Amino acid sequence: MARLVVVSNRVGVPEKGARAGGLEVSIRPALKQRGGIWFGWNGKFSEGDPPPAETVERENVSYVTVGLRQDDYEEFYNGFANRVLWPILHYRLDLAEFTRRDLGGYFRVNEFFAANLEKFLRPDDVVWVHDYHLIPLAKALRERGHKNKIGFFIHIPFPPPEIVTALPNHERLMPALGHYDLVGFQTEVDATNFSRYLANECNLRRIDGDSFEFDGRAVKVGVFPVGVETDAFSRLARRAIESPFVRDVLGSLSGRAMIIGVDRLDYSKGLPERMDAFERFLTIFPEWHDNVTYLQITPFSRSAIPEYADLGRAVGEAVGRINGNFGEASWTPLRYINKAHSRTALAGLYRAARVGLVTPLRDGMNLVAKEFIAAQDADDPGVLVLSRFAGAARECAAALLVNPYDHEGVALAINRALSMPLEERRQRHAVNYKALLHNDLGDWAERFLGALERPPVRTSAPPPMRIAGGR
Ligand code: UDP
Ligand code: G6P
Repeated sequence: MARLVVVSNRVGVPEKGARAGGLEVSIRPALKQRGGIWFGWNGKFSEGDPPPAETVERENVSYVTVGLRQDDYEEFYNGFANRVLWPILHYRLDLAEFTRRDLGGYFRVNEFFAANLEKFLRPDDVVWVHDYHLIPLAKALRERGHKNKIGFFIHIPFPPPEIVTALPNHERLMPALGHYDLVGFQTEVDATNFSRYLANECNLRRIDGDSFEFDGRAVKVGVFPVGVETDAFSRLARRAIESPFVRDVLGSLSGRAMIIGVDRLDYSKGLPERMDAFERFLTIFPEWHDNVTYLQITPFSRSAIPEYADLGRAVGEAVGRINGNFGEASWTPLRYINKAHSRTALAGLYRAARVGLVTPLRDGMNLVAKEFIAAQDADDPGVLVLSRFAGAARECAAALLVNPYDHEGVALAINRALSMPLEERRQRHAVNYKALLHNDLGDWAERFLGALERPPVRTSAPPPMRIAGGR
């Protein structure tokens, strides 16, 4: 079997402590299963040139990480990746702040990654690149002469071409995805949007159902929804609910039902909207006063970016308003915590909760939704209230699906979830759990790598088609 080299901006170097983020959570077990190298940024930045790459060896995985220069960090990470690509790919054109300087920094860091990667890349390595930070990486590697199998998986949504084309210079960036052998998406909708982009904006010819001809080669488009380790997470939750930490939390609720939300502090998660929905729930259903506690765990994320700092203020204000208006000396309706928690602690808390509130405005998948289902006690399960705009909504269709923009609708769903009869809760949970078992995390990696390593579709080899941004 070929050696696997995983590349992502963030690397799950062991012993870093609890950190929120689905990419890291999904790659770590998948990579451990097969072994290989995980290459990316070490999370540090420096004034001058960064020191050489550091390597940490653990079991069958080598974690190879590099630092970034301060200007690269600003332009690549805080700039183009997270102030342009992140909002646009989450359908938020209103929040995109494009500058040519940041775009330049983005390409520069991708070149820097390629230059560092090729120091240890062997010709028969299979390279699996992850997420929106590294769209041009395959192109940078191909230009350096590397002919490896290179796959790309994007963990976040891919919107319709009508939105993507609002990205200045999209025609320079997006066609670079044609240099991968396989481009994978979370849902059918994302893959269809991308295929439409290739066909309409790049004039690529479809070779068969899911491959396009690019520069005389085939680029395959596929759907690979990320899963969780369903049974293992369920076992973890069963143990964790007995832990002193979870017992303490449960004790502090004094028998009140718990609603739980777990999200990075990110505008894609719909937190102000969710707070508004909770406020309406308390207004419409006074019978729940003093009978329910909503625990919202929200680790800070990308705090140097103004939109994230603004969001932090808005959510903090909403929490203060709700607790001020509805709280009693003996009851705090909403507990809001910015500390990241370990997944063990989360597993126990999910299991202890009556309702999981997952209402992103847009989300590639949302692993918290799947973890909540996996963690439940099948005999007495809690209910998931899930945004229809999360990728997870397809597999978790037996959740209470809501429109997060309809605050009153979400308020009604919270009440319905809290009041749901046992038999209905069991049925819904059983359907969702089965769907998760059907697409476990291990299946995700296997299916992606299987599709990447399979021999390519033959192109009919007429003159190669050139597109904007091509070689
Ligand atoms: N997470 C964590 N600690 C926290 C908050 C979240 O370990 O304090 C994990 C959570 O269990 C989940 C991941 O971070 O596995 C978040 O993934 P998701 O797909 O829900 O959202 P993302 O942050 O990737 O947008
Ligand atoms: C999402 C993205 C990941 C990212 C994570 C945390 O899951 O898809 O690529 O790693 O958020 O964000 P951060 O900027 O801290 O890496």
